[in-house]
Amino acid sequence: MKSILELLSDRVRAAIARVGVEGDPQIHASQDEKFGDYQSNAAMGLAKKLARKPREVAEAIVEKLDIDDLCERPEIAGPGFINFRLQPSFLARSLQSIATADDLDTDRVGLPPTEKPEVIVVDLSSPNLAKEMHVGHLRSTVIGDCVARVLEFQGHTVHRENHVGDWGTQFGMLLAHLRRVRPEVVDRPGELVIRDLESFYIEAKARFDADEKFKEESRETVVALQKGDPTIRRIWKAFCDESLRHCHEIYDRLAVRLIDRGESYYHEGMEEVIRRLERMRDHHEGGTVRDSDGALCVFLDGFTTREGQPLPLMVRKSDGGFNYATSDLATILDRVETLKATRIVYVVGLAQKQHFEMLFAAARKVGWVGPDVRLEHLGFGNMLSKAGTPFKTREGGTVKLKDLLDEAVARARRVVEEQGLDETGPRRSFTPQQMDAIAETVGLAAVKYFDLSHSMTSDYRFDLDTMLAMEGNTAPYMLYAYARIRSIGRKAGVDFRELPSDAPILLEHPSEIALAKKLLQFADAIEVVGRELRPNVLTDYLYDLAKAFSRFYDKKLGVRVIDATPETVRSSRLRLCDITARALRLGLRLLGIDTIEQM
Ligand code: ARG
Repeated sequence: MKSILELLSDRVRAAIARVGVEGDPQIHASQDEKFGDYQSNAAMGLAKKLARKPREVAEAIVEKLDIDDLCERPEIAGPGFINFRLQPSFLARSLQSIATADDLDTDRVGLPPTEKPEVIVVDLSSPNLAKEMHVGHLRSTVIGDCVARVLEFQGHTVHRENHVGDWGTQFGMLLAHLRRVRPEVVDRPGELVIRDLESFYIEAKARFDADEKFKEESRETVVALQKGDPTIRRIWKAFCDESLRHCHEIYDRLAVRLIDRGESYYHEGMEEVIRRLERMRDHHEGGTVRDSDGALCVFLDGFTTREGQPLPLMVRKSDGGFNYATSDLATILDRVETLKATRIVYVVGLAQKQHFEMLFAAARKVGWVGPDVRLEHLGFGNMLSKAGTPFKTREGGTVKLKDLLDEAVARARRVVEEQGLDETGPRRSFTPQQMDAIAETVGLAAVKYFDLSHSMTSDYRFDLDTMLAMEGNTAPYMLYAYARIRSIGRKAGVDFRELPSDAPILLEHPSEIALAKKLLQFADAIEVVGRELRPNVLTDYLYDLAKAFSRFYDKKLGVRVIDATPETVRSSRLRLCDITARALRLGLRLLGIDTIEQM
């Protein structure tokens, strides 16, 4: 089943063609129900092309539209908007075609995969291995995972790459320190355990700042590392393995899968980057690649310093060292040439906006990335404290991601203990193990949902009270909405899986029609998220769906379900319950959130 957006777009595009031009149908969902469900703004743009009045063009399009099976007769409004209202019979037929599901974990709720699968790289999480993961890595991990899940669901091949920092100058200091305080690491690298990477880093840094000899030793150690000295490489690997082990505890807990492919992985790729660029420099190809003050640079159009001087992308420092741009050009070569990706998404904070703009411009300018490949920086804002200040511990240190998650889970436990009620009574009847599992699910869900529900580019305040509220656009509300629908099945004594798939869907009451429309817009939401990479479109959709369901099930505003008569009406409404629960469950799964059957 195609999304409604696609269906309407296809029909309107065909009508535009029949009018004798080509044009984008410009369909979107209406903001206000008064104007119908969808709207096309195509006439305004086409009017110029055709040198006719927009309203006339709109009339001509409507005249040629073949759409009676989907909509009521379209209406023209204002300067030339075309408004569409979906027909209940179309809604019913479409929902009817969604079969019941046996396996909720693989359920697609009737949504087919894309007809144009791509190879897509999502570069996510990517902490620096010198330190413990801190709160700053939450967003990249959670947003990256959600985007990857949606693209995978659409049927794309997705490489989830964790571009960890494992090669920078800090490693000289850390490895030199490690060798001094844990000399046994050289012989038994596999046994290295560092309980607290953060304090290890602080110790090493203190020594580095205080001791000139140690500083020198640190520098020699980086050089040895990059040259491939076997002993230093062993220590380095022991350190990185240990640091990655810490990261993967968190990834496992958050159910985030990824491949570790740090900067070191591109070591040879970086040399290739330099070789190719030097060749261009030596051939003076357009003067794009030149030396500047001893550094190798790619000159770009449209980037200047504050003084108005050209601002090039530096790819080799004057001391011969590689930098962030070198390794990122190597990632692009690998992803385009080896993985054959046609879309590369970097989920990295907005602080690196300019780096990516210059990187992408450089990769295109030197011809490594053609017009058929999309490069996208999915930049996000900061997570701030509840007070709106930078997120720090009381002592001013960085907050470890693990501590933050633990706190959210502890708070979730209290909320569920105190407020979690459904038809089975207070939650205190759960065993401690059940309670632990529920608290873990709700706590992590709250953190993820809150993060994903904000518009990507704005900063947001981390506020446990708000994110754990039972009302509003929060994870507990969504989880509760799901659990409640599942409990309707139990109360009605029916197994949703066994509802007859051929039982007709009957839509009469306004709350039924509204719910049916919302359900069919699931495909639209997923399509938009896949295209624009905005997870909050999905959270907003799910919240609207949960509200539409609430109205449908409301004693006053909605309809009877469990005791509805006749049986055909009852089974139609139970089918709507089932499809809603499944859409909520799938939607939450795409956000990286597990549902619970009872809470
Ligand atoms: N490790 C980097 C940091 O901590 C982020 C890397 C993002 N990915 C990339 N390909 N540049 O800032």
